[in-house]
Amino acid sequence: MKIDNITAETVQKLEMLLEELLPESESQVVSAARYSILNAGKRIRPVLLMEFYKLCGGENFKGALCFAAALEMIHTYSLIHDDLPCMDNDDMRRGKPSCHKQFGETIALLAGDMLLTKAFSVACGADGIPDDRMIKAIEVLSYEAGENGMIGGQEIDLAIENKEADIEIITEMYLKKTSALLVCACKIGCILAGASENELQAAEKYAESLGLAFQIIDDILDKTADEKQLGKPVGSDDKNNKSTYLSKKGIEASRKNAAELTQKALSALEAFSGDKTAVREITLYLLDRKY
Ligand code: IPE
Ligand code: IPE
Ligand code: MG
Ligand code: MG
Ligand code: MG
Repeated sequence: MKIDNITAETVQKLEMLLEELLPESESQVVSAARYSILNAGKRIRPVLLMEFYKLCGGENFKGALCFAAALEMIHTYSLIHDDLPCMDNDDMRRGKPSCHKQFGETIALLAGDMLLTKAFSVACGADGIPDDRMIKAIEVLSYEAGENGMIGGQEIDLAIENKEADIEIITEMYLKKTSALLVCACKIGCILAGASENELQAAEKYAESLGLAFQIIDDILDKTADEKQLGKPVGSDDKNNKSTYLSKKGIEASRKNAAELTQKALSALEAFSGDKTAVREITLYLLDRKY
């Protein structure tokens, strides 16, 4: 990635921690979870969590990393289930056969369930974070992953397949299925560092706009990317007759929209007095990404 200079350390520590948390096992479910999570993802949510933690003056990186790992586990579970035949029915993920293609549907289903469940004990294992911050962060993790967040968005996504949907409902879907886990990342970083209410609100605003831009770009890449580089099937949204900004407005207007939303996200960062260089660079990279 172009932003390796910012992300490399977090990604390396995160992957070591994930390896430790999910050691090799004879269990097919554990093997399937390892297969999906130890495979190369961009790790954007853990990276943002750690960068917001630093931005708000946090110093217990080991503690915060447990939450970053928990969030990547929830994100990975969402991808495993998203690829299942009853959802998007996609055969490739992160450059390899998707989890159910490799391990079968039942094991993939359970591997997703396991990652979701285990995420909460991993978060609880964060040492040295004050109890009140822990409780607040765990609540955010649960809320943003649930029916008002990612799951709620996936429900809308499936409900509007093969239907005409207006831009308001598509926006609500994006805010839930995609922004929610990014809100989760940024807010938890702030909470663990003891940020102010004002900073928390700014983190939420930032991540909502970033998430909308992120999903618009994901949808554009679904049409235009090089499949090998993308690591997942191109044309999945057309195959499933999904309603997206792209299908509604076309590519030029969608790109313009994503660029505006990226600027909106960047302006929300003004509320933070710390050094915003890293978060700014990540934000701009995500707009220009090729996978
Ligand atoms: C894919 O997320 C799912 C969406 C919300 C669009 P990412 O693009 O972050 O996937 P990985 O983690 O890099 O594989
Ligand atoms: C999925 O959106 C968002 C999730 C919550 C997993 P997509 O279905 O567009 O994600 P990809 O393109 O398969 O990664
Ligand atoms: Mg989907
Ligand atoms: Mg999908
Ligand atoms: Mg997609």
